[in-house]
Amino acid sequence: MSVIVGRGTWVGRGAAPSHLHASAPCCNMSSEHTLSSDAPCDPSDTANGEDEMVVTPNTVSGKIDYDKLIRDFGSQKISPELIERFERVTGKPAHPWIKRGIFFSHRDLDMILDAFAAKKPMYLYTGRGPSSEALHLGHLVPFMFTKYLQDVFQCPLVVQMTDDEKFLWKDLALDECHRLAFENAKDIIACGFDISRTLIFSDLDYIGHMYPNVVKIQKAVTYNQVKGIFGFDDSVNIGKHAFPAVQAAPSFPNSFPHVFGARVDVPCLIPCAIDQDPYFRMTRDVAPRLGYLKPALIHSKFFPALQGSSGKMSASDENSAIFCTDTPAQIATKVKTHAFSGGRQTVEEHRQMGGDLSTDIPYQWLTFFLFDDERLQAIGEEYSSGRMLSGEIKAELIKVLQPLVKQHQLARSMVTDEIVKTFMTPRRLLLS
Ligand code: TRP
Repeated sequence: MSVIVGRGTWVGRGAAPSHLHASAPCCNMSSEHTLSSDAPCDPSDTANGEDEMVVTPNTVSGKIDYDKLIRDFGSQKISPELIERFERVTGKPAHPWIKRGIFFSHRDLDMILDAFAAKKPMYLYTGRGPSSEALHLGHLVPFMFTKYLQDVFQCPLVVQMTDDEKFLWKDLALDECHRLAFENAKDIIACGFDISRTLIFSDLDYIGHMYPNVVKIQKAVTYNQVKGIFGFDDSVNIGKHAFPAVQAAPSFPNSFPHVFGARVDVPCLIPCAIDQDPYFRMTRDVAPRLGYLKPALIHSKFFPALQGSSGKMSASDENSAIFCTDTPAQIATKVKTHAFSGGRQTVEEHRQMGGDLSTDIPYQWLTFFLFDDERLQAIGEEYSSGRMLSGEIKAELIKVLQPLVKQHQLARSMVTDEIVKTFMTPRRLLLS
């Protein structure tokens, strides 16, 4: 199954460190995963056999065993107790993506809840590599979730647009990366972020403000460590080796002097897909040596591609994803003709055996975008028992996606260049 995540769009590849490789026997999600619209995964990345799991910022492939990832990465599973505490402390229901295990892993989320309970300031940090004009639904997942977190915590948010990263990794002109950062910011703003609490910044424009932290981080990490964490081979450009410090720097509040001054005691929470964790393992490793707090993380699973195991989700393949710019008719056609179905060969067989929820893309996408728990459960039961047919579950998905995409388009159409400029201007933000 191809899988995309909202981020992690490197085309650079290298042998991933051996401790991140594992055979993963017990997961339904299978075979191929693509990091994002534009980094279709290369099956040859699975060096040691087809099903071997590889999860790095460069490559996501093989059968993904999320429990094993938690063990390998040393993060924590989000437990029912933590969800309960989240709801108690924030006074808000946990997002369906937390309850459904889509945001499934964390580091130090409990410490963020401590800070919030003590009415201490905190902030959110996430980002996007602007490498394509067209965002697809998978790209929106982390931003929709971050918007929810900002509503819950009423805190500042910084969004890093890594135009520098895309220039280093892809065959794109520097100006083009910079332009895409501005264009993609419109889609991000359309997710509903609070203009008085949100800074979106292009690395190319903003780097000077955080350069003191960038060099401190660079001095604290050796070449061997970067190679070990990211698996770069010796032929890659030196910009790639230096870049992890740029992605790490926004984890520290004094990278935003307009917002936090010289404070280093404001904890940071980073929502991201789990493939970005290597950056933040590195960040957490250096933080204490710089006298800084370790950033907390909340990790998501990968968003599956439309074609499941047979295809790749990629910005260059029109039919592999639903884009934020698709019309209702395009959405319907793509789901009907391209969504990988866990339905059976014949209606009789389907009625008898039921659909396979674990491979059915319409069902899996509904777990992302149908927020009504009861309805989702009913659909799951109907479909897996064979009472609901493949065409019918596709119709359910189409019914959910069309208004969602339409509403995004409407919101985006209202984002003027002026609004983008305001979001992208370093300035004071409300702290709570
Ligand atoms: N490297 C990410 C990508 O390619 C972008 C990114 C930068 C990011 N900072 C982040 C993602 C923080 C999540 C959290 O898409």
